[in-house]
Amino acid sequence: MYSKMKKEAAAAAVVSQNGSVNGSQNGLSHSMAALGLDSAESAKAALPDPTADENGGEENDVKVDIKRGMDTATFRRVGKQMVDYVADYLENIGDRPVLPNVQPGYLRDLLPGAAPERPEDFEKVMEDVESKIMPGITHWNHPNFHAYYPSLNSYPSILGDLLSSAIGCVGFSWIASPAATELEVIVCDWMVKAMDLPSHFLSTSETGGAVIHGTATESTLTCMLAARERAIKDWLKEHPESGYFDAFSRLVCYSTDQTHSMIVRNASFIGIEIRRLHLPEGRTSLNRKEFVQAVEEDKAKGRIPFFVCGSFGTTSSCDFDPVEEIGPVCMSERIWLHIDAAYAGAFLFCPEYRPLMRGIEYADSFNFNPHKMMHVNFDCSALFLRCVEDLFDGLKEDLLSGLKLMKIFKEQGIPDYRHWEIPLGRRFRALKIWFVLRSMGLQGLRKSLRHHVQMADHFAERMGADPEFEVLTKSLGLVTFRVKDTDAVNALLYNLICDDGRIHLNAAETGNPPTYYLRFVCTSHAEQKDVDFAFDVIKSLTARLRSRRLSLSEVQAEREKMLNNLAQQRRITSTG
Ligand SMILES: Cc1ncc(COP(=O)(O)O)c(C=O)c1O
Repeated sequence: MYSKMKKEAAAAAVVSQNGSVNGSQNGLSHSMAALGLDSAESAKAALPDPTADENGGEENDVKVDIKRGMDTATFRRVGKQMVDYVADYLENIGDRPVLPNVQPGYLRDLLPGAAPERPEDFEKVMEDVESKIMPGITHWNHPNFHAYYPSLNSYPSILGDLLSSAIGCVGFSWIASPAATELEVIVCDWMVKAMDLPSHFLSTSETGGAVIHGTATESTLTCMLAARERAIKDWLKEHPESGYFDAFSRLVCYSTDQTHSMIVRNASFIGIEIRRLHLPEGRTSLNRKEFVQAVEEDKAKGRIPFFVCGSFGTTSSCDFDPVEEIGPVCMSERIWLHIDAAYAGAFLFCPEYRPLMRGIEYADSFNFNPHKMMHVNFDCSALFLRCVEDLFDGLKEDLLSGLKLMKIFKEQGIPDYRHWEIPLGRRFRALKIWFVLRSMGLQGLRKSLRHHVQMADHFAERMGADPEFEVLTKSLGLVTFRVKDTDAVNALLYNLICDDGRIHLNAAETGNPPTYYLRFVCTSHAEQKDVDFAFDVIKSLTARLRSRRLSLSEVQAEREKMLNNLAQQRRITSTG
């Protein structure tokens, strides 16, 4: 405080000394005068001393490494401790509650309202991690986590991310970090081969290629933009009298009411009408007849059908749209066929699941999230394209036309990935994929995927063998089930599971009128004993709810709670 006062006094002295010396009549000095200052010098002097901090301390006294935030010796020490912390966390994750027991806003009460002026010891930060942050974490890699779809991590992936952070490159063009770009091309080609995807997705194919984005939402958005421009171009060729915005206003795209809600958001981002085709009761995938009928209806109204998002593993029941039926329609109508395989795509590493992808050769784009089932930690979404040039057209910029970009990419086999995505900057995500592929091998990945399916099968068997429950669907690692009772009872069960907190799963609803049900997914961390534990928790809570006699108002309250829970979930797992 004392030194701050000294500085203020010194600054005031400078103002009075200099004030009489500088008196130029330029605009600046006019505005200075308006501020009660006589010159630029005096203005400078009136500014607070930038080296003084709030508490009167001096930045010059601060012991901090301004190059790296901490000195290397400390980094080595706490970095090794952090690796131990991460290993202990993951090794003993089952000892923590899977769901945090905190109320909204809990953290605000625990942390200061402003950032610290002075550097703090990292040990102190870590104490707060354990005492304040961890109690507010939902543990996605916990053996009792059966919600959403998994986001598996792995040590190789964590190490890949660590190294990527250390390198810290922003590989938007080849020269911005050649290895970042080239490794991305290589791991994408590896995935095409390992998953037996069509060879037109390879970088070495005539027109195709692949790119790694952060999320399925972004991947799908870029495809919708590409499809939009392709459709407008086609329309203007056939209708030269029409204009760009006339064509734009005629565009319509499709999904079913089971397709992930990202499609609705994306359609609104790009200003296009979407038709969510409602499937008849009891069916969760599209058929050719319904699709053709919708396309014909729209064409008759002068609309331009231009994009359809087929699901390879829906969120609500992991169902598959019959791509071999709708693919030929897309081909003949030149409708862009995008396949959202965010969760289920990884299962294509296992040959036994490949029959599910019949017709994939019709797809213009195929997208899956390695950050779900491939042990690559969030975020990481791989997008494979039949014709990369379409993408360049969709994201076109002034300097280079799509054609030129395509020529450069195909001649050199080297993309400038900034032209393949919405942001300019991009992380070096290929590193973590590469680490996982090399450390686990394809055999390790297949083993993990098969274990996941076996655990879900075991859960379905236990549910199916119990007369109190019915299994509605079982697909890959997802089981949907209900108590054989009313929706209200199922809602009550779900609320009890949430309140109990020993396991975490989601509910969903489908059909019209909707049927309410629960979803159960495993992570590869779950073993049979964990699945049995989950079943026992559900069974005991069902027994508890049956023993309760609820008044009408209690039933209404439970229903409201269920609707709230559903609304909350819908932000993430929505299909409707
Ligand atoms: C089938 C499906 N598609 C798309 C998404 C959206 O994924 P992202 O969060 O990567 O955008 C999800 C999310 O879980 C999903 O399950």
